[in-house]
Amino acid sequence: ELNGNVTIIVLGASGDLAKKKTYPALFGLFKNGFLPSNAHIIGYARSKMTHDQYIERITQYIKLKSDQDRAMLQAFVNMTSYHAGLYDQDEAWQGLNDFITRNENDRQVHHRHRVYYMALPPSVFIPVAQGIKAHVYTNGFINRLIVEKPFGMDTESSNQLGHAIGQLFSENEIYRIDHYLGKEMVKNCLNLRFSNIFFSQLWHHQFIDNVQITFKEPFGTEGRGGYFDDFGIIRDVMQNHLLQVLTLIAMERPISTDAEAIRDEKVKVLKCIQPIQLDQALLGQYVADGGKPGYLEDDSLKNKQSKTPTFAALALHIDNERWDGVPFILKAGKALNEAKVEVRIQFKNVAGQLYPNTARNELVIRIQPNESVYMKFNSKQPGLSYQTIQTDLDLSYHHRYTDLSIPDAYEALILDVLRDDHSNFVRDDELEASWKIFTPLLHAIDDPQQNVPVHPYPYGSRGPAQLNDFIKAHGYDYTASKQGAYAWPTQSMS
Ligand code: BG6
Repeated sequence: ELNGNVTIIVLGASGDLAKKKTYPALFGLFKNGFLPSNAHIIGYARSKMTHDQYIERITQYIKLKSDQDRAMLQAFVNMTSYHAGLYDQDEAWQGLNDFITRNENDRQVHHRHRVYYMALPPSVFIPVAQGIKAHVYTNGFINRLIVEKPFGMDTESSNQLGHAIGQLFSENEIYRIDHYLGKEMVKNCLNLRFSNIFFSQLWHHQFIDNVQITFKEPFGTEGRGGYFDDFGIIRDVMQNHLLQVLTLIAMERPISTDAEAIRDEKVKVLKCIQPIQLDQALLGQYVADGGKPGYLEDDSLKNKQSKTPTFAALALHIDNERWDGVPFILKAGKALNEAKVEVRIQFKNVAGQLYPNTARNELVIRIQPNESVYMKFNSKQPGLSYQTIQTDLDLSYHHRYTDLSIPDAYEALILDVLRDDHSNFVRDDELEASWKIFTPLLHAIDDPQQNVPVHPYPYGSRGPAQLNDFIKAHGYDYTASKQGAYAWPTQSMS
């Protein structure tokens, strides 16, 4: 179904994102037969490199598991070439256009389908988009622009960027990546909700008490402090990745699975969320512990007095009939005790006291690691006892599906672009609605006058000491979920 006319132009081909994500994803697609051998990938960046240097750089992070993979890599290497040039000069862009055109002609491509993948820092987004539009864009054929965060720093700067790019490319030509939308379990949210009558009926404030969406990383910002310090954890993963997950959990049923139908519903639910107030936020920054450096000790950090949060817990409310009174608690942190991203939906208590002290039901969608969906529920202790205990219905992917191979998020998303499917990409109005939820809070945090507290937490801990109280105050009942003799079957953990 995919044709070989496509030329993928990776802008910023010598950078980190390109070598760590873009090229490995392109190779993954090729290996799985989704990139026709007549397609071509052209790397573009400022550095002068020989072909061999280019190949060495872009293949560094490609994992080869078999001889067959090695043979595939050889074929993949033959379908890519490199061209160096600046980002702000007309002649450079004309040079790139000539290079692409010659390549297309050699491949006998007449229907010029060009995908521009911007693996670039935001400072050059606009000049690059302008250069492409003026000199590389193929009028009358297909042009697609892939961009990735940061999309600005707040509503205003995001809108400015959006406006500048919107003058050059139509919305239909733009693919804004949020790589969480390419993750298997994130993509599963809508299937789970809308293809199961028992979930769809329970999905309501009448039955759901609260929702927690958690992102935990066991490592700090070591070496990335220069970038991270300008953004902080809220801009880095919450305004985008976690909010996307929330949106998929909270949105109404789309009228179809078309990209616009899905994105219409996402925008609607986002517009029902009030901007987060200061008292709905708990912020933290990690300090040295167990031989690991604190955030402020990172060499790449310029401001050694930085108050940038590396942890945040935020309570959001959705003002609509479905979610009236249900807190959505987003938690995200660097340098925590474990690696985990999950959605935890806690149901209400069962009425009456027939079986006292039973735990609440919870539905957990584990996004990573070890993708799984499990439902915690209560059951009679087997045997002569009449005690009610907590147990689970557990769909752990690695147990259920043999030969499971979950594609990397970027692989799935680039394939969507080649198929021209926008469902898993962020639309312009969606981006604006999402910034509006966070902008007042971010401005308050960034304003030194307001002196918003940022609580220290030890590297490798669960977060600031205030966390449990915060979550409790905002509605999550920790005891209700921990009561009963619930224990994970050990093989499901890891
Ligand atoms: C990126 C953030 O967008 O997402 C990083 O900039 C974060 O700080 C990363 O580590 C997490 O992505 P993943 O796929 O590793 O969960």
